[in-house]
Amino acid sequence: MADLSDKVVFITGAAQGLGAEIARQASAAGASVAITDVLDDAGRAIADSLPGPAIYRHLDVTNEAQWEAAIEATIATFGTLNGVVNNAGILLMAPLETTTVEQAAAVLNVNVIGTMLGIRSAIIPLRSGGGGSIVNIASIDGVSGMNSVSVYGASKFAIRGLTKAAAIELGRDNIRVNAVCPAMGNPMMVQPFLDQIDVARYLDGMPKPILREAPDATDAARMTIFLLSDDSRGCTGADYLVDGGWLAGHFCPGLPGF
Ligand SMILES: NC(=O)c1ccc[n+]([C@@H]2O[C@H](COP(=O)([O-])OP(=O)(O)OC[C@H]3O[C@@H](n4cnc5c(N)ncnc54)[C@H](O)[C@@H]3O)[C@@H](O)[C@H]2O)c1
Repeated sequence: MADLSDKVVFITGAAQGLGAEIARQASAAGASVAITDVLDDAGRAIADSLPGPAIYRHLDVTNEAQWEAAIEATIATFGTLNGVVNNAGILLMAPLETTTVEQAAAVLNVNVIGTMLGIRSAIIPLRSGGGGSIVNIASIDGVSGMNSVSVYGASKFAIRGLTKAAAIELGRDNIRVNAVCPAMGNPMMVQPFLDQIDVARYLDGMPKPILREAPDATDAARMTIFLLSDDSRGCTGADYLVDGGWLAGHFCPGLPGF
């Protein structure tokens, strides 16, 4: 595992799922961690469970004043800031034909404006500390299209665009900005839509994995830790798929040797 000793890492949406896993791995790698979320009890419990120094702060990523307060509290506690993970996100599964403007705006607000505010809020503290790393959690849905996730996918494509433009603007300040594109985070994220999913047909239609073992949230977290660490000092403005080869292409049974 990459080394995050002496680093202060700030994570959004870290009360559960992938954000909580990133927090656990960052703490195990030696970082001081600021956990933020809108789920206060769960967020505090994650902060209390970490092996290293940690704080919890309430942060709705769409709220500018809360961003300012949470970053200030982190610097007041730990003295500096070295990494920010824009992980908070919400899912919408719905056909485009019936998607309302209100539904679309809610997803774009959290996933895109939330990430934009996270990058923006990190600039001054990271610059004044001599640089740092921003990791934005996108998705394979931000790299290729899929039915039922048009607006969610658009929000994740937008995160990749924000990532590249921010990397170009901030490279001169030694601030790296990258995107992680997982195939899998918290499996419970689809729960609000389960009653609309025909699970058997869905599983049958899914592309067959390239790897024998499909990646999970721990793999996406490991990539995030690498991007937060100095081991990735040469990496900025890029997308890092953690998809087990899903988007590499497709396996054709019956061809010579297979
Ligand atoms: N679940 C998946 O299969 C999957 C796949 C690829 C990418 N992702 C991405 O991974 C990231 C983490 O998702 P997850 O899988 O852990 O799901 P999750 O639902 O468990 O986690 C999302 C977190 O974001 C928080 N959140 C929601 N709205 C917020 C707001 N306005 N302000 C602050 N926090 C807010 C939630 O409270 C929750 O803790 C998301 O960006 C998601 O899009 C998930």
